Amino acid sequence: MQHDSADYHIPVLLERSIELLVTDPQGIYVDGTLGGGGHSRLLLSRLGEKSRVIGFDQDPDAIRRAQRLFGDDPRLSPVHNNVDHLRNVLQHMEIPTIDGLLLDLGVSSHQIDVPERGFSFRFEGPLDMRMDQERTVTAADLIARSPEEELARLFFTYGEERHSRRIARAIVQASARGPLLTTGELVATISAVTSPAFRSKTLARIFQALRIAVNDELGALERTLSDALDLLRVGGHLVVISYHSLEDRIVKQFLRDEASSCVCPPRTPICVCGKVARITLLHSRYIEADEIEVRRNPRARSARLRAGEKIHA
Ligand SMILES: C[S@@+](CC[C@H](N)C(=O)[O-])C[C@H]1O[C@@H](n2cnc3c(N)ncnc32)[C@H](O)[C@@H]1O
Repeated sequence: MQHDSADYHIPVLLERSIELLVTDPQGIYVDGTLGGGGHSRLLLSRLGEKSRVIGFDQDPDAIRRAQRLFGDDPRLSPVHNNVDHLRNVLQHMEIPTIDGLLLDLGVSSHQIDVPERGFSFRFEGPLDMRMDQERTVTAADLIARSPEEELARLFFTYGEERHSRRIARAIVQASARGPLLTTGELVATISAVTSPAFRSKTLARIFQALRIAVNDELGALERTLSDALDLLRVGGHLVVISYHSLEDRIVKQFLRDEASSCVCPPRTPICVCGKVARITLLHSRYIEADEIEVRRNPRARSARLRAGEKIHA
């Protein structure tokens, strides 16, 4: 299925995120999650001729789209890679520091809406869920190779699903009769052991858990944040939009840790840890979408934007 501009993805917290990101109109920025290119498009409109935007996406569909959309803008370089390879890619491009990094995490509407990608429990499709189809392990592979306890742990940790054990047991029993290969087969297996009253929420949690695991989303986020802070110039901004509590917790914790100076135990008479704050938070809490945006784009409801400025090398 081929998607075009309007329905690929509606960018979330667009104006706020770009306002927070840009500190130097001639600077070098990284959009770590290009998607439909909505954020990059506004970013480029705020930047000057000498600026650069390096746009990462691990999904080749997003890269092809960026090439189509921005093909004649020499300031944007689309990179088909996981943004957790930021350090190596920038080194290869001979870019020692950047002025800002934007991460707009998770999946795009395009990815969810294409049945063949297998991200949605609402459409029949293969149990795939890879953002990068060059990854080898699909959701079907993960299910086939994981023991019951591992699946239960995954559903509990990444999906915050209360009935994780029961669902894991049903999946392992169903797999013993033949591999689960489609979203429909997984939905039927989960539906057989869970209450119809909460069906959609349960399915959403299990699909989320599998997607996070297949794409190692939390690991990639942790690696990216720590490299990004090294690469940011002092005064540069880090802007992250997350869509579920696990991602947001990682971002919040990272920013808090980096914004704190001394981490000596309470009542230590003088600081012995020598820790220096590298970040100052640009907002004490997070920024959410307002009602108007949520009405226009329901996906914005769960978005939390956190941002920090690098203050120390
Ligand atoms: C929410 S969408 C981004 C939407 C984009 N800001 C826009 O305006 O259209 C997330 C995109 O980031 C990509 N993505 C998620 N995690 C990634 C990672 N670790 N490295 C590279 N791309 C990633 C996904 O493939 C998806 O296309």
